[in-house]
Amino acid sequence: MIEFVLNGRGRRVRVPPMKRLLDVLREDCSLPGTKEGCGEGECGACSVLLDGRTVCSCLVPVVQVRGARVVTVEGLDRGGRPSALQRAFIDLGAAQCGICTPGMLVTAAELLRHARGRVPSEEEVREALAGNLCRCTGYQKIVDAVRAAARGASRDGAAGTSGARAPGRSRAGTARAKRSRTARTKRSRRRG
Ligand code: FES
Ligand code: FES
Repeated sequence: MIEFVLNGRGRRVRVPPMKRLLDVLREDCSLPGTKEGCGEGECGACSVLLDGRTVCSCLVPVVQVRGARVVTVEGLDRGGRPSALQRAFIDLGAAQCGICTPGMLVTAAELLRHARGRVPSEEEVREALAGNLCRCTGYQKIVDAVRAAARGASRDGAAGTSGARAPGRSRAGTARAKRSRTARTKRSRRRG
């Protein structure tokens, strides 16, 4: 039995300890919002927050989240209503096929939380989301949505949420973001 906190509520699952967190969320917790893209830690579609940091759930054996806090895209709303970030994605057309969107939202939520009401620059947004791949949007709308949510949060004093990555991002930035996320995922794996 593995216990952890999922989207603010205690959760127990009886599953093989090495089962991927991604599969546990989708198959055992009835939370299909987290998507699988590459299954190899490369695309960011499966991103979730683990103790507040973005990790690739396709690389995390569920045993590693014992006692930890996990937040999925389903945990980003505000009492069943879209968060400012989710609203901005909808309003600005930042989602098309939607496969990348949950991971984008999760990563952007972490960025906005750390920004603490400041509106991150376009470069900062692109850097933060460099590990999240999108095949549809061209990224600009995603970047715009994240910054719009941040502006709304600044005005309202409310937490924003949303995200995506950008064209024109530097290869170095992409590599940095990927290294950072992979390192976090590995640290979380070592914890268990
Ligand atoms: S499915 Fe692509 S990083 Fe996990
Ligand atoms: S909206 Fe289709 S992959 Fe991003």
